[in-house]
Amino acid sequence: MKALFKKPLATYLFGIFIVVFATGLVLYQIVDNIVILGSVLLTQFIILTLFLMHLYERYIRPIKKATRTIEEIVKGNYRARFHHPSNDSIGLLSAKINSLARNIGEFARHEKMQSEQLSTVIDNTQSGLILVDAKGYIHFVNRKFIHIFGGVPKDYKGHLYYDILENEIIHETVQKTFLYEKNVKEAFTHFKGIDKIYLEIVGAPIFNEKGMLKGAVLVIYDITEMKKLELMRKDFVANVSHELKTPITSIKGFAETLLDGTMDDKEASKEFLGIIYNESERLQLLIEDLLILSRLEKEDFQLVLSEINLKQVVAEVAMLMKHKMDKKKLSLSVNISDEAIIKADKERLKQVIINLLDNAINYTPVNGQIWINGENTNDKVMIEVRDTGIGIAQEALPRIFERFYRVDKARSRDTGGTGLGLAIVKHIVEVHRGDIQISSDLNKGTTVSVTFKKELID
Ligand SMILES: Nc1ncnc2c1ncn2[C@@H]1O[C@H](COP(=O)(O)OP(=O)(O)OP(=O)(O)O)[C@@H](O)[C@H]1O
Ligand SMILES: [Mg+2]
Repeated sequence: MKALFKKPLATYLFGIFIVVFATGLVLYQIVDNIVILGSVLLTQFIILTLFLMHLYERYIRPIKKATRTIEEIVKGNYRARFHHPSNDSIGLLSAKINSLARNIGEFARHEKMQSEQLSTVIDNTQSGLILVDAKGYIHFVNRKFIHIFGGVPKDYKGHLYYDILENEIIHETVQKTFLYEKNVKEAFTHFKGIDKIYLEIVGAPIFNEKGMLKGAVLVIYDITEMKKLELMRKDFVANVSHELKTPITSIKGFAETLLDGTMDDKEASKEFLGIIYNESERLQLLIEDLLILSRLEKEDFQLVLSEINLKQVVAEVAMLMKHKMDKKKLSLSVNISDEAIIKADKERLKQVIINLLDNAINYTPVNGQIWINGENTNDKVMIEVRDTGIGIAQEALPRIFERFYRVDKARSRDTGGTGLGLAIVKHIVEVHRGDIQISSDLNKGTTVSVTFKKELID
C-alpha cells in the first residue's frame, strides 16, 4: 500500500494505458467496427483517467503531504502543519497530525525549559559536581568544579576520570562508590594557587530502572570556612587552657610549699601568699575578660543605647585609673569638647576607654605622658588615646587585635595582661559599627583612635 502511494502519477497513467490496450486487444476479436472500438477505448481511457485523477487528488496527494509533514515532525520541526479542509477521513487525519505536532512541540518546549532550569541550578550550585559513567568516563562537570580545579569543561568531558583527575582521594571515592554501590564520603585538601582549601567529596551511585549501576555523581563541598572556624575554636580553647594553666600551677605550687611547712617562716609565707593573691587576681581578670567576650559574641546580644557625653565618661574612667597613673607618675591631659555626644552603650564605651587607658598606663614608663583627645564632627566622634610609651614594632601591629596576642609575653604578664584587652575593644567598636586604628613608634609611643558614629541607624 505504502509503495503504491509512492509511485508518480505517470506510472498510474501508464497502467491505464496498458489496461486500455489489453481491452482493445480483446474487443478487437469481437468488434469489427474500428470507430466503435476506438470510441469505447477512448471512453474507457477517459473514465479511468478521471477516476485516477479523483483518487489521486482525494487520497494519494493528501497522504503524500501527510507523510512529508510527519517526516518534518520526526526531524524536530514541530511547527510543520498539514491542512486539509474537509470532513472526511483525510481531514480527520490532518487534524490529528496537527494536534500531535502541537502537543509534541509543547512537550519539547517544556522539556527544554526544565533542562535549562536544571542546568542553571547545577551550574550555579555552590558545590562542585562531576558525573562519571559506569566505565569511568566523565560526562559532566559544573562551573564550581571548574572554579576549584581549573581548566574548561572540554578538558574533562569524555575523558576517563583517572586519566584527567590527579587527586587520589577522588579516585578512591569513585572506586568505593562503584564497589559498595552506596554513598561514600571523603575529605581532602587542595591547593588553588597558593591557597590551601579544604574539600569534602560525596560519591553517590546512579542506578537505571532495572537497578543496574549506571555511574556515579560526585559532589564536592568547599569546607574551608568551616575548617578555619574549627581551627580558630581549637586555638582559642588551647590558648584559654594555656592561660589558665600558668596561674593555677603557680597557685597550687606555692600553696603546697606553704602546706609543707613554710608556713612557720613568716617572711616566706607572706611572699608566697602575695604571689598566690596576684595569680588569683590574674585568673579573675582572665575569666572576667572571657566572660565579656562571650557576652559580646552571644547571638541575642543587644546594645543598651543612650546619649553619652564623652567628656563625662572619660572623666569617670580617669578617676578610676588615677591611683594607677599616680603610682607611675604619669600625667594625663584630656581634651574633649562638651559637644562630643554619641549614641552608644555606656558600659561598653567605658570598657573601651578603660582598656585603652590601661594599656597606655601599663606600657608607658615612669614619668610618661598620656593624652585623651576627642574630635567632634557632624556625624562622628573620634576618641584618641596617645602615650609616650614603649611603642609596638611595625611587624606586630597587624596581629595586635588577636585574642591572647602580646608583643612581649613576659612584660605583659608582669602587668597582669591577658592579651584580651584590645580584642574586646575591637569587638565593642565593631558591634557599634565604628572603626579602630592603631599607629605606633617603637620607644616613642602609641596612638589608638576609635571612631563612633553619632547615630546608630539599624
Ligand atoms: N599603648 C601600648 N603601648 C605599647 N604596647 C601596647 C600598647 N597597647 C597594647 N600594647 C601591646 O599589645 C598587646 C595586646 O594588648 P591587649 O590590651 O590586648 O592585651 P594586654 O594588655 O596584654 O592584656 P589585657 O589588656 O587583656 O589585660 C600588649 O600585650 C602589648 O604588648
Ligand atoms: Mg591591655
